[in-house]
Amino acid sequence: MDFPLDFVRGFFPALADSNDLYFDNAAGTQVPQTVVEAVGDHLTRRNVQRGGRYRLSEEVDEFLQQTRESLAVFVNAHQPDEIAFGANATGLIRSMSLAFAEVLKPGDEVIVTELDHEANIAPWLALEARDIKVKFWPVEREGARLDIEKLDEILSDRSRLVAVTKASNAVGTIVDLIPIAERIHAHKGYLFVDAVAFAAHGPLDVQFFGCDFLICSGHKIFGPHIGFLWGKKEAMDSLPTFHEFFIPDRAPDKYEAGTPNFEGTAGLNAAVGYIEELGRRSRHLPLPPEEDVGRRGDMRRGMQAVRQYERTLTGYLLRRIQELPFVEVQGLTDPGQAALRTPTFSFNVKGLEPAKVSRLLAKERIFVRDGQVDCPRLFRALGLSDKTAGVRASLVHYNSGSEVDRFLDTLKDMPR
Ligand SMILES: Cc1ncc(COP(=O)(O)O)c(C=O)c1O
Repeated sequence: MDFPLDFVRGFFPALADSNDLYFDNAAGTQVPQTVVEAVGDHLTRRNVQRGGRYRLSEEVDEFLQQTRESLAVFVNAHQPDEIAFGANATGLIRSMSLAFAEVLKPGDEVIVTELDHEANIAPWLALEARDIKVKFWPVEREGARLDIEKLDEILSDRSRLVAVTKASNAVGTIVDLIPIAERIHAHKGYLFVDAVAFAAHGPLDVQFFGCDFLICSGHKIFGPHIGFLWGKKEAMDSLPTFHEFFIPDRAPDKYEAGTPNFEGTAGLNAAVGYIEELGRRSRHLPLPPEEDVGRRGDMRRGMQAVRQYERTLTGYLLRRIQELPFVEVQGLTDPGQAALRTPTFSFNVKGLEPAKVSRLLAKERIFVRDGQVDCPRLFRALGLSDKTAGVRASLVHYNSGSEVDRFLDTLKDMPR
């Protein structure tokens, strides 16, 4: 694998103790030292309110803008004003659903999917109280995938919005957004994307995806606990939001319900800076010339390097796990399909409850998660209950093949 793993791991202080094995990254990733420093630097040097007429306060205004600029490049937005900060993805999706509640009409339709995290389902379902019809795009049991033909069956002239994840936080399936964008736009509706579970695994590109809104969380992309939203400028401007009189009635301010988490934004900027640094180390990777420009080129390359490496890691794990016939993996299990999924695996060990497997792994200092990971509808569709779903091992690019070996050897030796 032509990937600078030692260089990468050297950035993350938490990984210095190689006895701890972090396979719970879909819940939250570790952070580079540069992120720790950026957060600490803000709190020690300029922990003041924005908007004041003194240097430190002006610095806060400046780095908020810098973070918007960095995130705009990270998602390939047209402009920094398309980025708004929020507490987390769940809260941002809820406020967006409340904004849409003001413009949707009784009888209009919103489509949600069985593949999604409940954070991108429940806020839309709540619109039913206003006579908005919410339709479910079912997941295919085979491969835990969304079939575009099923979307065709449920789309109608009243369809106003499709809310869909870019990747499953439970089983790793990646969703092709382009055909969804084409269809919902043909009905003059919006594509609302939850990118939380994908963003650590590959390049975000809102122009390529063709979406109208996209949500992400800092703590899933090597940053602090903070969320952010991207929205197309016209859509951001036109949606009515709930904001107090002291918040300007313009995007992105009107999406930020008060003082943002300054130290979080500083850390998020540093997290994006880490991706850029990885991109500078990956200059050997070819990029289309239009993408190979400035910071976007570096970020794109950084995430491409991650994607390529993770594909190999995914293929390796899926191949090796076949040696353990008592382990059943959900979703796409063919090592040849590694490109269609992230390295987030939900599995069961025959004869052992998921919680027991997690506890036994934890004893060996291998950190995973068990349960429905906020996707009860998905697991029900896959034929699993709250008792039987599942163990989740979620890897990112700082995990290694030898960690996969240690994990699988521990599963193999587990008393069943
Ligand atoms: C796909 C997905 N969407 C949304 C969320 C909620 O994110 P947050 O923790 O930022 O509220 C999560 C969290 O695990 C997630 O995985």
